[in-house]
Amino acid sequence: MAKKLDLERILKNQGFGSRKLCRIMIINEEITVNGELCDDPDTEFELENLTFTVKGEAWEYKEKSYLMMHKPSNYECSHKTQHHPTIYSLLPFPLVERGVQCIGRLDEDTTGLILISDDGQFIHKMSSPKHKVSKVYEVLCKHPIVEANINALLGGVKLIDEDETIAALAVTQISERTIHMTLAEGKYHQVKRMVAAISNRVEGLKRVQIGDLILPDDLKVGQWRWLSTDDMMKLIAV
Ligand code: URA
Repeated sequence: MAKKLDLERILKNQGFGSRKLCRIMIINEEITVNGELCDDPDTEFELENLTFTVKGEAWEYKEKSYLMMHKPSNYECSHKTQHHPTIYSLLPFPLVERGVQCIGRLDEDTTGLILISDDGQFIHKMSSPKHKVSKVYEVLCKHPIVEANINALLGGVKLIDEDETIAALAVTQISERTIHMTLAEGKYHQVKRMVAAISNRVEGLKRVQIGDLILPDDLKVGQWRWLSTDDMMKLIAV
């Protein structure tokens, strides 16, 4: 049987505040469901394909949230930031209220693709070292990259404070000072430390791909969007 829930609970679990607050919004005629005004908090609705508006803004019911964001520079991937605004300030408040988390952090000066979700199992799967979801970074270096550097990154470099050497899965030269580097792990400052190990320095870092999911050209810096089924397949199938 299709799952049903009363409107008050629907709004609460979609992140629109306490049950009391949701009840008030409903009674105040601020909510429409599937195109029609509903002012009764106890009316039950089927959750599948449910759409609603809150104060005129359109939403789709989502059991769990799965998003991608194009992270800007000078934002921190933390709920409690120290020096810069948080990437969560770029999301609508109901998503933050639902407790979404980013999957792996990017440095404050790194830009590019970051995944965000409130599904603990998905977060675990995508971030666990066991699953080795690859990530591709576009790396702008201070000094030109030569073939020996690429071979060193592919062969494995020794990072300070790590016992074993660590190798890139793939390295492609894009221009004299720019490479695409594919990594299987997500160690702290991994790209910067690997580039330092070949006596160079990262001057610009952007994550352009996670698994088979490529940062879309039309997702502008600072924007986010829901992951489509197709996007999810590109992440889960890896
Ligand atoms: N490696 C880094 O050094 N920084 C990032 O933000 C991501 C990977």
